[in-house]
Amino acid sequence: MHAIAIEHGCLRWTEHPRPPGPAAGEVRLQVAWAGVNRADLMQRAGHYPPPPGVCEILGLEVSGTVTEVGPGVDSLNPGDKVCALLAGGGYAEEVVVDARQVLPVPEGIGLREAAALPEVFATAWLNLFMEGQLAPGERVLLHAGASGVGTAATQLCRTFGHPCFVTVGSEAKLATCLELGAEDGFNRHEGSFVAAVKAWGGADLILDPVGGAYLADNQRVLNADGRLVLIGLMGGRLAELDLGRMLMKRQRLIGSTLRAKPAAAKGAILDALLAHVWPRLASGEIRPLIDRTWPIGEAEAAHAYMSKDANIGKVLLSVSGEG
Ligand SMILES: NC(=O)c1ccc[n+]([C@@H]2O[C@H](COP(=O)([O-])OP(=O)(O)OC[C@H]3O[C@@H](n4cnc5c(N)ncnc54)[C@H](OP(=O)(O)O)[C@@H]3O)[C@@H](O)[C@H]2O)c1
Repeated sequence: MHAIAIEHGCLRWTEHPRPPGPAAGEVRLQVAWAGVNRADLMQRAGHYPPPPGVCEILGLEVSGTVTEVGPGVDSLNPGDKVCALLAGGGYAEEVVVDARQVLPVPEGIGLREAAALPEVFATAWLNLFMEGQLAPGERVLLHAGASGVGTAATQLCRTFGHPCFVTVGSEAKLATCLELGAEDGFNRHEGSFVAAVKAWGGADLILDPVGGAYLADNQRVLNADGRLVLIGLMGGRLAELDLGRMLMKRQRLIGSTLRAKPAAAKGAILDALLAHVWPRLASGEIRPLIDRTWPIGEAEAAHAYMSKDANIGKVLLSVSGEG
């Protein structure tokens, strides 16, 4: 099969051995589309190695068709159109994945759009509702609101009745977030978000992919009993924590990574998406937000686009191109 290899720092679409399997509990997929995620850029730069035992090929999510099922898999059959959450290996013609990490394509959604769903909706669901334990009506601050994860989280907040405030890097991004359901927002290039978020009412939960550079300001706008869920380190890994503020306001800091979780835990997140989000995708209440697509042979251009912070929503790679 063909897959993306990193040769002398460049992405090349070259011949690879087919992944072995499927073993018990696994399925083989013919990939139609692969999603691009910020983590792929980090892995490529050497800052985010795959978990032990996971192949080196980039790619955390795909859509495609089931071609083989391993022993013990009764939920999926050859020919099924699906999307999958992977620990790696998605930039390829074929993947083998635990069946618990696979969902049917939602009704009325094509394979192209389905590739934009698994990683960002699983991340948003996990951190808002499972790690973050949002209670009815609680208020959410989403940093990088126009990112793939941000556009998914904004729509989940709107749908499930949580007012949300976004920080973004441009007025165009802010306009999209407001259209997706954010109540208000702030352009991060205009300084600190603290006054704007306080004027809005503060946050009971912050979904934060920035880390170090935002910790102090996050603590200032996090309400009593608030949770700060850290999902990334785009603004550095080191910062000073105000333990006094943390103690007096009963703030909680939660670190969270999806990729290294075991298949059973990923399966529990996908079960929740199937129950609560898939019907809303079918009805059109929630939609995958796709910014641009490239043929997989031009993955380099897709990465360059994302690394410039240009995307609003998802960037996808066409592998077989099946719609
Ligand atoms: N822990 C997990 O399990 C998990 C899972 C998935 C994703 N993530 C993390 O979630 C984040 C979003 O992922 P994605 O794939 O959706 O990303 P994406 O679509 O590439 O969006 C990332 C956006 O973050 C903003 N940004 C970049 N550098 C920043 C900085 N230094 N400070 C503040 N904002 C900055 C930029 O938007 P603006 O210019 O609009 O600010 C950029 O477009 C990434 O950090 C990723 O690693 C974590």
